[in-house]
Amino acid sequence: MAGSLGLTRLLLGCLPWMALSQPSAAAASPPHIVFVLADDLGWNDVGFHGSEILTPTLDFLSGQGVRLAGYYTQPLCTPSRSQLLSGRYQIHTGLQHQIIWPCQPHCHPLEDKLLPELLKERGYVTHMVGKWHLGMYKTDCLPTRRGFDSYFGYWTGGEDYYSHERCYLITTLNITRCALDFRDGEVPATDYQMKYSTHLFTDRAVDLITNHNPEKPLFLYLAYQAVHSPLQVPDQYIEPYTSIHDKNRRLYAGMVSVLDEAVANVTNALKKQGLWNNTVFIFSTDNGGQTLSGGNNWPLRGRKWTLWEGGIRGVGFVTSSLLKQKGVTSKELIHISDWLPTLVNLAGGSTNSTKPLDGFDVWKTISEGSPSPRVELLHNIDPLFEDSFPCSVSPNTRDQAPTHAATKWQDSPFNVSVHAAIRHGNWKLLTGNPGCSHWFPPPSKHSEIPSPDGSNKTLWLFDIVQDPEERYDLSEKFPDVVTMLLFRLQNYYISSVPIDYPDDDPRCDPGDKGVWGPWE
Ligand SMILES: *[C@@H]1O[C@H](CO)[C@@H](O)[C@H](O)[C@H]1NC(C)=O
Ligand SMILES: *[C@@H]1O[C@H](CO)[C@@H](O)[C@H](O)[C@H]1NC(C)=O
Ligand SMILES: *[C@@H]1O[C@H](CO)[C@@H](O)[C@H](O)[C@H]1NC(C)=O
Ligand SMILES: *[C@@H]1O[C@H](CO)[C@@H](O)[C@H](O)[C@H]1NC(C)=O
Ligand SMILES: *[C@@H]1O[C@H](CO)[C@@H](O)[C@H](O)[C@H]1NC(C)=O
Ligand SMILES: *[C@@H]1O[C@H](CO)[C@@H](O)[C@H](O)[C@H]1NC(C)=O
Repeated sequence: MAGSLGLTRLLLGCLPWMALSQPSAAAASPPHIVFVLADDLGWNDVGFHGSEILTPTLDFLSGQGVRLAGYYTQPLCTPSRSQLLSGRYQIHTGLQHQIIWPCQPHCHPLEDKLLPELLKERGYVTHMVGKWHLGMYKTDCLPTRRGFDSYFGYWTGGEDYYSHERCYLITTLNITRCALDFRDGEVPATDYQMKYSTHLFTDRAVDLITNHNPEKPLFLYLAYQAVHSPLQVPDQYIEPYTSIHDKNRRLYAGMVSVLDEAVANVTNALKKQGLWNNTVFIFSTDNGGQTLSGGNNWPLRGRKWTLWEGGIRGVGFVTSSLLKQKGVTSKELIHISDWLPTLVNLAGGSTNSTKPLDGFDVWKTISEGSPSPRVELLHNIDPLFEDSFPCSVSPNTRDQAPTHAATKWQDSPFNVSVHAAIRHGNWKLLTGNPGCSHWFPPPSKHSEIPSPDGSNKTLWLFDIVQDPEERYDLSEKFPDVVTMLLFRLQNYYISSVPIDYPDDDPRCDPGDKGVWGPWE
């Protein structure tokens, strides 16, 4: 153990990527920042990636800006949102396992300063519309207590698009409760039944933009429910998709179309108010598409919940007149944790008061095309991981979780039975059970392709730049690279805080007529 630690230190000592990122030059008048986060939008679900789904607005806006082709999120909702707003890896916040469920007495650690607080320090007016999913068991956890001047949306991870009710099985009581989860500020919002959330959130965003004092910098975090399950959409949006025979895919395509129209309405409002020419507009998904609910990541492997590229390589782009390069695609390595230092520096703010950040300031990479300061990316380490969804709709091709470590790496510095993945330069190493490892072509094409690997396999090495589809495992060919990356994983593992994943607290129960909300 001492030997491997020593070597880890040695490796660390000479690694150039540990150098601190340089702050960007602060703009004279801080730009408005509008961040649109889509939920569960897959790699193959936008027109500019070749999807059959029509996204004219996203295609146009991204075509005028910088498309991020080497952009990564986390494979799940809570983790991506926590890294976006804190700039810190899950191994440093205790959130490395799954998501925050409605009855867990848990939220993003209160010691962390979040992005809206840092922008407020710089004079920003801060608004959030949409899905929070960073915990709500006590009032201190709420978005309105963590830096947002206003909030309109829902606090848990998913619900009905029209009734805004969340149904949840409270495990410690063994009862399923359905109750409203919709708030204006902190007050239950009961007047919106039967109104589709993508329209409601867009209307609120447009109102906020229309009433914004242009003298003040605006931060709007617009986290749509779209296009997460359940598959619900007003009929007229499905009309262009009669040629898609798979029902889930057709409904999903309609949901994406509403989202595309929503982005058009929001950007038009920014233009109408004269804010657009000083706005940095960012569009991002929170994770890969869920193939069980209409999403698709073809030709990438895996899907939401997995550490395969289909779970984590995200749709993303930036559009702004402040960009020095426009109409380009960046292949540089950028991660969702990079937005916090990037945006705070761009705003002329300071990250001095945060806990140590895992994100890098990537503004020059996006705006000028300079190499990314990020050479390494820890995708995650989660010793408790289990894939709770069936891998395939057909039980015959169901994957089995690996049960035995690949013998070759049994004495390695890192326990290769643990679910983990790391990227370093072009290399990506995965260990343990990465989650469903099939390739899922769009349902209209042909059927899915099961993983060729036996159920005992627990280690893969890919050159992601040459092989983004993760088809050619190079671990036998490059054992030294494997060893180096296992040392890096072990080093991160040593620096991680314990997983915080409490049992459901029965006091969460909203009762028959209540609403989901803080109980402590
Ligand atoms: C939970 O409730 C269901 C029906 O309400 C019952 O069938 C089941 O046995 C219960 N489970 C436990 C663990 O009590
Ligand atoms: C966008 O604006 C148009 C015109 O006001 C409206 O009809 C439409 O419902 C809006 N779409 C969304 C998604 O809000
Ligand atoms: C942005 O547009 C407004 C209104 O058209 C104009 O007054 C302002 O000078 C423009 N700012 C920049 C940076 O172009
Ligand atoms: C942040 O820290 C740096 C280096 O210690 C210092 O130069 C700078 O003034 C600090 N900024 C703020 C806003 O405190
Ligand atoms: C390695 O990780 C697996 C999965 O988390 C765990 O079951 C096993 O006990 C670990 N082995 C050691 C030696 O820690
Ligand atoms: C998996 O490992 C077990 C136990 O070592 C062994 O019996 C089995 O044959 C292995 N299966 C494959 C497909 O390698």
